[in-house]
Amino acid sequence: MKIFFAVVGLLLAFVAQAQSLYVEQLEASSVDDKTLQQAHKQIKQHKIIKLKANIFVPPFHKQLPVKVAAKKEFCNNCHLSPPHRKDERKRSFLNMHSRYISCQTCHFQPQGVQLEYRWLSFDEEKSGETEKRIAPFYKNQPVTIFSEHELARKIEQEWKTEATLPRAKLKAKLHAPLSEKGPECLACHDSKKPLLDLSALGYSDKEIKKLQQHAIPRFFSRFKKEDKRLRMTDLLR
Ligand code: HEC
Ligand code: HEC
Ligand code: HEC
Repeated sequence: MKIFFAVVGLLLAFVAQAQSLYVEQLEASSVDDKTLQQAHKQIKQHKIIKLKANIFVPPFHKQLPVKVAAKKEFCNNCHLSPPHRKDERKRSFLNMHSRYISCQTCHFQPQGVQLEYRWLSFDEEKSGETEKRIAPFYKNQPVTIFSEHELARKIEQEWKTEATLPRAKLKAKLHAPLSEKGPECLACHDSKKPLLDLSALGYSDKEIKKLQQHAIPRFFSRFKKEDKRLRMTDLLR
């Protein structure tokens, strides 16, 4: 009997370790009434955005089509790629980053947990150019999950078929482990307490210096939400 429990224990430990920390926290999360009501309101207001194929005024700059990664991050089952719209000032930069940084790097910031950041492959290809994004890892396991993950498929199905209230519950539960606001620009673009270990990610000393002293994130850090005006001359400060 003792051996039986030891084996079960070992198996459970293995299963627990092989799980994404996000999935673990999501399954353990509970939702209070206030959050549920907020989510219900969001779901009722939620509109599926249709991208226009032919814009009346064509884009001024020649734009190459964005390369689509073979694997889709779970979040993009519901969120557009690019996902950011609200903050008109920062959204282009945030959207640029979401091409090489996983959503979870910025939106999964649990308290008191030491995460490690590594390049995660978003491609099946073994040879040739592979698409990689910086993602959080916990105990050697990526926190990021893809749309083909069992849980992601289950949620996709429920999202399609359920009524507004169960969907609100699902939205609230899915977002409980996430932070609404991602990190400030300087969380990564400063040498003080950097979120990412750029050297471990393979950046050279020269590149690190450039990223940590870059004028653009510094420029953004000087603006508070209420400030409406951006002055290009501030870039020179
Ligand atoms: C099943 C659909 C679904 C999935 C999957 C999903 N979201 Fe959302 N998310 C929503 C909806 C609905 C909203 C409410 C705003 C809206 O209507 O677009 C939202 C809102 C948000 C917000 C704004 C704050 C808030 O909670 O309202 C953030 C940030 C966010 N999602 C990040 C993520 C990230 C990161 C992932 C992946 C880990 C993810 N979402 C996965 C549906 C989803
Ligand atoms: C480089 C960090 C970063 C990455 C990567 C990132 N986000 Fe965000 N995200 C932020 C920040 C910062 C905000 C808050 C913006 C604000 O309102 O000031 C935000 C806000 C949001 C919002 C709510 C506001 C809005 O713009 O509509 C959603 C939804 C969201 N993110 C989804 C995602 C999804 C989905 C991904 C992955 C495809 C992702 N984010 C990747 C930093 C990031
Ligand atoms: C989660 C960490 C993270 C956050 C938060 C972040 N960045 Fe970055 N940023 C990076 C990394 C890593 C690169 C380098 C990507 C590459 O080229 O490999 C980068 C690259 C850039 C570059 C291009 C640098 C160059 O000259 O090649 C700009 C500009 C930039 N970020 C601006 C911003 C702004 C503005 C914000 C806030 C809205 C922001 N970043 C938030 C990690 C971050």
